Amino acid sequence: MSEIKACLFDLDGVIVDTAKYHFKAWKRLANELGIDFTEKENEQLKGVSRVESLQLILKWGGLEKNDSELQNLATLKNTWYVDMINKMKADEILPGARELLNELRANGIKIALGSASKNSEAILFKINLYDAFDAIVDGTIVSKSKPDPEVFLKGAELLGEKPENCIVFEDAVAGVEAAISGGMRVVGIGESQTLYKADWVVSGLDQINLKKLQNQLS
Ligand code: BG6
Ligand code: MG
Repeated sequence: MSEIKACLFDLDGVIVDTAKYHFKAWKRLANELGIDFTEKENEQLKGVSRVESLQLILKWGGLEKNDSELQNLATLKNTWYVDMINKMKADEILPGARELLNELRANGIKIALGSASKNSEAILFKINLYDAFDAIVDGTIVSKSKPDPEVFLKGAELLGEKPENCIVFEDAVAGVEAAISGGMRVVGIGESQTLYKADWVVSGLDQINLKKLQNQLS
């Protein structure tokens, strides 16, 4: 298999545990609208953009909203979410993330962020990890949501690497699918029952180092 020249990381749920804050904010919004919302529904929102997530929740609840109501509800959810991420500290970086980023850089492997979030830069500054990335592709740049591969293809392009030389790290089903349809190898972060399409599934970045990556995926 091809050499590993670049690594592309999802943010929420891979680098930092913001997935729990998305869940809390969506649950609050859904419940205020009279819609039931559990971890099971939340799983389907991982990697999905803000407005598309809201559209799914409304669909599950059988509610219809016009465009301006939709925007207002998405903004309300984001206000609650931002309140939570503003209190975040560097100790919320998930175990092993900083160590792996450091090891990859020390070995000349290029690193990009590939996230659907429009809050990604704010989060990276907050946890003091902005400088660990050579390129940042996020929800402010991409026009098509995961499972479309745009976010990762753009990352590979910015890093100047071919998709077959890139590894993606993802906790979302939609993100794993995006990596695969972009022609990249993918490490699922989470449970193998959920992320069974990934080439390799681990519980967290603390289970990975460059040697293991090369052994599993090269
Ligand atoms: C993804 C999350 O990374 O970003 C989704 O997995 C979230 O849950 C999406 O909806 C958009 O995030 P934001 O911060 O722009 O609302
Ligand atoms: Mg994620």
